[in-house]
Amino acid sequence: MTAPRPPALPVVQFRSRAGSIDLGWGHPHPAALPVDAWAEATRAALRRYGDAALTYGHATGPGPLIEWLCERLGEVDAAAPEPGQVFVTAGASHALDLVSSVLCRPGDVVLVDSPTYHLALRVIADHRVDTVPAPADEDGIDPAATAELIRALTRQGRRVAMLYLVPTFNNPTGRSLPAERRAALLAVAAHTGVPVVEDDTYRELAYPAPAPASLFSGAEPGTVVRIGSVAKSVAPGLRLGWLTAAPPVVRAVTERGYVDSGGGVNHASALALAEFAASGAYRRHVESIRVRYRRQRDALVAAVRAELPQAGFVVPDGGWFLWLRLPDPYDGTELLPYAEAAGVGYVPGRVFFVADGGHRHLRLSYSMFDPETLAEGVRRLAGAYRTAGLSTPLPG
Ligand SMILES: Cc1ncc(COP(=O)(O)O)c(C=O)c1O
Repeated sequence: MTAPRPPALPVVQFRSRAGSIDLGWGHPHPAALPVDAWAEATRAALRRYGDAALTYGHATGPGPLIEWLCERLGEVDAAAPEPGQVFVTAGASHALDLVSSVLCRPGDVVLVDSPTYHLALRVIADHRVDTVPAPADEDGIDPAATAELIRALTRQGRRVAMLYLVPTFNNPTGRSLPAERRAALLAVAAHTGVPVVEDDTYRELAYPAPAPASLFSGAEPGTVVRIGSVAKSVAPGLRLGWLTAAPPVVRAVTERGYVDSGGGVNHASALALAEFAASGAYRRHVESIRVRYRRQRDALVAAVRAELPQAGFVVPDGGWFLWLRLPDPYDGTELLPYAEAAGVGYVPGRVFFVADGGHRHLRLSYSMFDPETLAEGVRRLAGAYRTAGLSTPLPG
């Protein structure tokens, strides 16, 4: 007698609740994942490189990918990095983990933006450092106040290892740090010696204007490490990203034991990405997903304006997120069970802050769903407002 089949083991990170429209996940739209083009890129890499595609890869990443990355960053940023400034990683999360390993020692202080990508806070915390919010307002980090904080911490004998932020299409706000603050922050990094870790993961998702120049492109050598990824521009399952940094940082990362032992990260996928780029598929793909995500953003914005007119937000110029401010007395964490009961999910603003903050906010992601589903999700959210029984129900 054959035993009953056990339930299938999970394949993906995403967990859907039956009937729910979960606007909490920052995952790509399934139709935006280039399954066929990737299969072709993989075949092309195997044809071109043969056994070299399947052996241990060069430590910093395969040359063809690094060359293309430099060229592409030169197109979508103010300046191209040099090949010796690039290290290919298994995504931006891995890049942040590597950079933290190289820059941080247990007990150090790491300054972070508020609000900022909540899972980066987890990656940084793994390095047994104290995460401290850099002073920030609605426009992002305040460079002068941050310099003051660094001086105060240094006077207290604390070592400030690095400052992490997502200055371009921030997760969760979708906003970008204004140009004057970028320049001032670079001056702070140069004067204090505290390296800036710039998470540039959303650079390619600009609607419609080009993304602002990165901090890295305008920085004095050695003051900024930029991390990037193809998770949003191609597919997160590839686990491919990069860091661009001064050669000593690249060397320090390259010399880590596991790179010495295992060679370049995700070598076969990295070569397939080089083929995906060389064939023109990358360029076509990014153009098409810009159109898609812009349409999805517009649909979410229109639905929020129609259904939740009292909620405040700034229309993002890129990325995947809308950062809503709820009217008094709504609290994003308290509203969540009502939203879930109404069949819609989101991420409460609270989790994007290391100190107290974000109570009135919530993050909606427009990446995963078609315009009609996004509109239905917002209708459900508006219904949740009404049933929450808080004292200032919204009209309609
Ligand atoms: C700002 C930011 N950095 C990094 C990541 C993770 O990137 P990766 O999948 O390349 O590790 C995300 C994903 O949501 C993100 O929003």
